Amino acid sequence: MRPFTSQLARIALAAIAVSTNTAYGALYNDASQLPNLKYDFVVIGAGAAGNVIAARLTENPKFSVLLIEAGISDQDVLGIEVPFLAPANLPNSSVTWNYTTTPQTSLNNRALAYSRGRVLGGSTSINLMTYTRGSDDEYDRWAELTGDDSWAWKNLEPFYLKSSRLVPPVDHHSTKGLVDPAVHGFGPVEVSLPGLPTELDGRVVNTSKALGAEFPFNIDIQSGDSVGVGIAQSTIGGGIRSSSSRAYLQPNVNRRNLHVLIENTVTRLVRSGPSHGVPVFKQVEFAPGPSAKRTIVTADKEVILSAGSIGTPQILMLSGIGDSLELKRLGIKPIVNLPDVGQNLQDHPIMSNYWVVNSNNTFDDVLRNTSILNADLAQWNTSKTGLFGNAPANAVALLRIPDDASIFKRVRDPAAGRRSAHFEMIFADGFAATVIPQPATGHFVTINTAVVSPTSVGSVRLASADPFAFPLIDPNFFSTSFDQFAMLSAVKAARAFMAAPPWRGFVVSRFGPVGTAETDEEIIAAARDAIVTIWHPTSTARMSPKHAPWGVVDPQLLVKGASGLRIVDASVMPIIPSAHTSGPTYILAERAAEFIKETWC
Ligand SMILES: Cc1cc2nc3c(=O)[nH]c(=O)nc-3n(C[C@H](O)[C@H](O)[C@H](O)COP(=O)(O)OP(=O)(O)OC[C@H]3O[C@@H](n4cnc5c(N)ncnc54)[C@H](O)[C@@H]3O)c2cc1C
Ligand SMILES: *[C@@H]1O[C@H](CO)[C@@H](O)[C@H](O)[C@H]1NC(C)=O
Ligand SMILES: *[C@@H]1O[C@H](CO)[C@@H](O)[C@H](O)[C@H]1NC(C)=O
Ligand SMILES: *[C@@H]1O[C@H](CO)[C@@H](O)[C@H](O)[C@H]1NC(C)=O
Ligand SMILES: *[C@@H]1O[C@H](CO)[C@@H](O)[C@H](O)[C@H]1NC(C)=O
Ligand SMILES: *[C@@H]1O[C@H](CO)[C@@H](O)[C@H](O)[C@H]1NC(C)=O
Ligand SMILES: *[C@@H]1O[C@H](CO)[C@@H](O)[C@H](O)[C@H]1NC(C)=O
Repeated sequence: MRPFTSQLARIALAAIAVSTNTAYGALYNDASQLPNLKYDFVVIGAGAAGNVIAARLTENPKFSVLLIEAGISDQDVLGIEVPFLAPANLPNSSVTWNYTTTPQTSLNNRALAYSRGRVLGGSTSINLMTYTRGSDDEYDRWAELTGDDSWAWKNLEPFYLKSSRLVPPVDHHSTKGLVDPAVHGFGPVEVSLPGLPTELDGRVVNTSKALGAEFPFNIDIQSGDSVGVGIAQSTIGGGIRSSSSRAYLQPNVNRRNLHVLIENTVTRLVRSGPSHGVPVFKQVEFAPGPSAKRTIVTADKEVILSAGSIGTPQILMLSGIGDSLELKRLGIKPIVNLPDVGQNLQDHPIMSNYWVVNSNNTFDDVLRNTSILNADLAQWNTSKTGLFGNAPANAVALLRIPDDASIFKRVRDPAAGRRSAHFEMIFADGFAATVIPQPATGHFVTINTAVVSPTSVGSVRLASADPFAFPLIDPNFFSTSFDQFAMLSAVKAARAFMAAPPWRGFVVSRFGPVGTAETDEEIIAAARDAIVTIWHPTSTARMSPKHAPWGVVDPQLLVKGASGLRIVDASVMPIIPSAHTSGPTYILAERAAEFIKETWC
């Protein structure tokens, strides 16, 4: 996404301090200043899930918690707070893990940028803020795959309701008919519709209503039925990003039973003697850098691993938990043989489709002209309104391939059910650059098309036993005929959508190598050069039924064959949901916090 961001990056990375309401009590960045080296719980990773766990456990004043985060504080980082600047942190910045994938064989051997958040808030501090819970079918399938009804939609209701809440758009315009407040909850993550409606919004809604069945209007995809077209809901409140840090951590960081250590990387879990023949992992080793002294901290009750779908399998393998043969090969002493650690990596492939449009209102000139950009930034600085209070995308459509499509004669439908989508269209009122740079002139609309029920499966493996070396990440994108068919379906759907009457006089022509591809073969060939990640890795430490020999954690998220160790983050999802993954991660973390409280209260 570099081209989109070069202009924005100059501003965001200047790290201009703005006075929002970010405020921290005691944050430690030096282990020698920590008041204790023994806590009830040690939580690894202050991302989406880790901050939920830290906040919920410390509601009980009897529990002491240490939260350890490799990255820096998010305080006053403009590129985090300003929603429109989100792409400016990508791919590499002071708040990211600068990963790249292995060469992707189905994408002409391109190695893709694969950043994750490395800062308080984790990836929720750098993500693009689209909020989706996922459908009821999605969670019912988790229950089926794990043999545990705790994960069924009807039983998760208390947890999705307590994770987020709907707030008005920052400009307080009426959103009647565009969102259903009744399906929303009362949790700390703020969710809102765009504070600056764009010229696309009305056309998207009208097209959906005009074309009907193929593009059903869905007033609120958080209701359990996630299929349809609507205005985007984003994790933004009052024109400011609502990250897990802002929602869960900042309000609670002054609790006396919560200590937060930043700028320290967990290097491994240390085995501390067996209990009933099972190895115990209640000691956590960490250091501020490769050559620095390592410190060990102990959890009396549990270690909770929330380092995300890349960090979690990496730490497990460094600790001797994984495929024993492979660990031995790397010179790591195997302790628990769990061959699924790092396997089953899934993610959503996405690519940009462009149209030249007859409008001077797209955000293209903002990215080209510093004085316009500065004016928008100044407006945000003063009132949190205007373009910069919006996420880059304003409307989304989660859609299904028709039942009678040829692909289903050969492949079983991979979606969780009829209320889960196969592909997505994400609308931006300007040129959102992914692999080709924004042209110097012209005005554009982007529809990013993504496959949200992919069947491609990849892996995360260690490159070496060095905890500071990046792991080998292979999402294995676009490697199945289903994923190729679904992307083709998405492109055709996007074209049909833009050919509808509401766009007449507005849309001029398709643009770029994807836009000019005509036959199915040409479109798939163009996709191989255009696909990037939507940044949704999951399932690298997947949940399975309690006594199943496969999988990494049981349905209570306890690591199989180990004691004292639980995993709470996107890595435990049994299969990737047809949804943007922060919403489901918050839901599963809220569920997990209650499991932990039930265990120890
Ligand atoms: C660029 C981008 C865009 C995205 N866009 C969206 C979107 O629009 N909508 C959406 O719903 N989702 C989006 N996502 C995905 C979403 O943010 C993630 O699914 C979610 O944050 C996952 O939560 P997690 O707790 O599993 O991991 P994370 O939020 O990534 O948190 C993991 C934390 O662990 C820390 N950590 C890792 N290793 C170590 C270690 N060894 N020691 C100490 N700390 C460590 C990391 O620094 C990080 O803070 C996006 C993600 C990215 C990166
Ligand atoms: C990622 O890249 C940025 C920009 O080059 C750099 O500032 C940062 O230190 C890098 N992060 C890591 C963890 O190496
Ligand atoms: C990001 O950082 C990684 C690791 O240092 C590097 O391999 C990659 O080329 C960088 N990407 C960009 C776009 O600078
Ligand atoms: C959408 O349809 C309504 C009702 O027909 C109309 O008033 C409105 O102008 C349309 N909006 C756009 C952007 O086409
Ligand atoms: C955009 O601006 C140009 C130059 O001012 C003008 O010629 C053109 O008519 C405008 N287009 C629209 C759709 O307003
Ligand atoms: C940038 O935008 C300003 C304000 O609209 C305008 O006056 C100026 O001419 C533009 N600069 C360029 C180089 O187009
Ligand atoms: C935002 O406003 C504050 C105070 O009004 C000012 O100090 C700061 O420089 C402004 N920042 C930007 C990016 O405009």
